[in-house]
Amino acid sequence: MSYNLLKGKKGIIFGALDEKSIAWKVALRAKEEGAEFVLTNAPLAMRMGEIKKLAEHCNAEIIPADATSVEDIENLFTKAQEILGSKIDFVLHSIGMSPNIRKGKTYGDLNYEWFLKTLDISALSFHKIMQVAEKQDAMNEWGSIVALSYGAAQRVFPDYTDMSQAKAVLESIARNYGHRFGKLKKVRVNTISQSPTKTTAGTGVGGFDAFYDYADKMSPLGNASAEACADYCITMFSDLTKMVTMQNLMHDGGFSHMGISEEIVELLEKK
Ligand SMILES: NC(=O)c1ccc[n+]([C@@H]2O[C@H](COP(=O)([O-])OP(=O)(O)OC[C@H]3O[C@@H](n4cnc5c(N)ncnc54)[C@H](O)[C@@H]3O)[C@@H](O)[C@H]2O)c1
Repeated sequence: MSYNLLKGKKGIIFGALDEKSIAWKVALRAKEEGAEFVLTNAPLAMRMGEIKKLAEHCNAEIIPADATSVEDIENLFTKAQEILGSKIDFVLHSIGMSPNIRKGKTYGDLNYEWFLKTLDISALSFHKIMQVAEKQDAMNEWGSIVALSYGAAQRVFPDYTDMSQAKAVLESIARNYGHRFGKLKKVRVNTISQSPTKTTAGTGVGGFDAFYDYADKMSPLGNASAEACADYCITMFSDLTKMVTMQNLMHDGGFSHMGISEEIVELLEKK
């Protein structure tokens, strides 16, 4: 159902890889809610071609950008403003990648070059995006910037290895740039900490299926779906959340406040 929450708003959506991607669902909802936006992803992800289908459906242009390259991000913001014909109202950072996780490295055997790559792609890119937006004066007043995070920023999930540190940095950048952008342009900056979700990035983490079921059984509302996450992003981009900033917003069906659930007790008692 559409409420026209983003009517007249212009945005940039990072990170739609395929139809399972959270950013993909956000793009579909943003379109439904009346937004105009450009889609962007790493040039490598473009080659897979899936994003073109989304772009056609949303009547959106695609501008490739490696989110670790300031030059690419500058080009992206310049072109996005030309295409959309105005400054930007909302930005979604939906980017995460750890070469250490990809290569199955344990926390006691991390490759430090890759660790830096993890931080650059998954966290520093958020700072780079906002710094470029500030320098180009590309954001409209009362704009909204959201990045997706995960509860491993606060708590230990062993297989999440160096991505835990990346998410902690990401959330810290949201607070610190949130302060700066709030003062400068009344732009709000938040992270949404999402339940485990069956996407390419999600299922790449070791033991994902078991953990997905565990989180589902621990959460009173069950795991939050990618579609529900998209709905939350839309509210954060809308004018209904103008005074929310510098927050890490839990979107996890209640998981983060649970100690143990009846379902888990039952399972353990069966052993
Ligand atoms: N899936 C989950 O369980 C889960 C849970 C909480 C948070 N998140 C977060 O949600 C966000 C989106 O992930 P997803 O689950 O939709 O998976 P996804 O694999 O569909 O999306 C990750 C995106 O990051 C992009 N990316 C990687 N390197 C890049 C680079 N150098 N420049 C630009 N883009 C790059 C990929 O191309 C891809 O589109 C990530 O930040 C992820 O950590 C996911």
